[in-house]
Amino acid sequence: MSEDGRHRTRLHPCSLGLLGPGSKGVTWAVRLFILPPGCHLPIFRIPNRLLRLPRFQAMNVSDAVRRRRSIKRFTARPLDPEELAGLLELVVLAPNHRMTEPWRFVVLGPRAKRAWAEIKGESRAGRVDDAEVAEAIRRRTIEDIESLPGLIAFIQPLADAPDVREEDYATLYMGIQNLLLGAVDLGLGTHVKTGGELEGEGLREALGVGDGERVVALVQIGEPAELPAPKPRTAATHRTTWLP
Ligand SMILES: Cc1cc2nc3c(=O)[nH]c(=O)nc-3n(C[C@H](O)[C@H](O)[C@H](O)COP(=O)(O)O)c2cc1C
Repeated sequence: MSEDGRHRTRLHPCSLGLLGPGSKGVTWAVRLFILPPGCHLPIFRIPNRLLRLPRFQAMNVSDAVRRRRSIKRFTARPLDPEELAGLLELVVLAPNHRMTEPWRFVVLGPRAKRAWAEIKGESRAGRVDDAEVAEAIRRRTIEDIESLPGLIAFIQPLADAPDVREEDYATLYMGIQNLLLGAVDLGLGTHVKTGGELEGEGLREALGVGDGERVVALVQIGEPAELPAPKPRTAATHRTTWLP
């Protein structure tokens, strides 16, 4: 608030941030948060497609960690298969106890996406009593999933030993995080999806998941249509004990 009592709008010095989205990693979006004095949360968002600048510096890992968000809406820009293949090569570099390399990836094409879309659509519609509303939800879900630029299933081969199985699951998620951060560097957005339907026969069949394997995540990926504000987090300092 200014001295005369009016609410002043100003640019927060830290709010002129560079965010990575763009086409094939060659563009950047500049995001301007217009904040009232003292406010540290973005209250105004500009769709990144409106703000493209040439990329001029490499992103470091901490930047990528800070800039990553779960992206709900993607542009229609199709993904280059090489981009996806490159990101999957980051997954396999994750730390991996015993080098079990506990992963298999399925990149869903239009037919597989449609199969998943129908499974998810039925599932969501099934939770609603009103038939008309249920049908609208089913259709909307199918449309949303079919229009995703990229969808990758992460499959874990299930080791017999429970401790190895647990470590393998952890490793797979470390690999997934590599992909999420690599995507930020390419100007892409991601969203991890899990849930009961991943265990269902319908998806397993559509993806060719065998006995002794489990789908641990579906990752949606594409160029972000907008960059959501970061979700508030409790600072690590509140959760840290430093022992002497
Ligand atoms: C293991 C895991 C499973 C998730 N499953 C879902 C999901 O099924 N549906 C969903 O909308 N988001 C899912 N998410 C995304 C989280 O909801 C999201 O990360 C969280 O809201 C924090 O937002 P941020 O990623 O933008 O920081 C999942 C994330 C993780 C790590």
